[in-house]
Amino acid sequence: MNEVRQDGGENDAHGITSGMPLKKVVLASNNAGKLREFAALLGAAGIELIPQGELNVPEAEEPHPTFVENALAKARHAAKLTGLPALADDSGLCVRALRGAPGVYSARFAQLAGGEKSDAANNARLVEELRSASDRRGYYYCVLALVRHADDPEPLIAEGRWHGEILDAPRGEHGFGYDPYFYLPSLNASAAELEPAVKNASSHRAIALRQLLARLSEEA
Ligand code: IMP
Repeated sequence: MNEVRQDGGENDAHGITSGMPLKKVVLASNNAGKLREFAALLGAAGIELIPQGELNVPEAEEPHPTFVENALAKARHAAKLTGLPALADDSGLCVRALRGAPGVYSARFAQLAGGEKSDAANNARLVEELRSASDRRGYYYCVLALVRHADDPEPLIAEGRWHGEILDAPRGEHGFGYDPYFYLPSLNASAAELEPAVKNASSHRAIALRQLLARLSEEA
């Protein structure tokens, strides 16, 4: 593994403290969609985002029971291996009638019940578990963690919730994951019926990113 440490550049890890501008940040994800969404908003704030795969950083474990711990673990991992500030997100679907499940286990919801790890299996389990539920409320949750260096004692944390209702039949072709079953009453559409640009402007990730940008500008 050729990990590329960037210490000594504009972002010397040991020199960065709260209040100092960030120029280059590693994104602790290789998801092209997230990179596009995050790069657009952070670019406007003068931050260049580099996907961790470009720096040969392998995926980190996500062993924790809370979103914020998983996001921090991923951000620290990327910062440690690159010497750069790092941004990570963790997200999932939280359903009221299921007491917050699938939550942090959203990607593995069906697998945890002996099924396969796929969106289709996850959605099938969701529909099944809500079969007799009259309360269909739920929300997507996203937490973002930005560390200036691996041992940053003051990580920036931002969060977003996107509220909706769980459908019992799929609608729409866009998006991924639980989107065909996630209905937005105010838009009269499922998340999978929204044009990607519309989803990206209103989603839990967009809400969290805007909060992160506000925190960064408060610091500047
Ligand atoms: P991750 O944080 O990107 O790893 O997302 C964890 C899981 O949460 C995904 O595998 C999906 O099951 C679910 N999820 C998170 N965000 C979304 C979304 O915008 N649409 C659909 N499913 C999502």
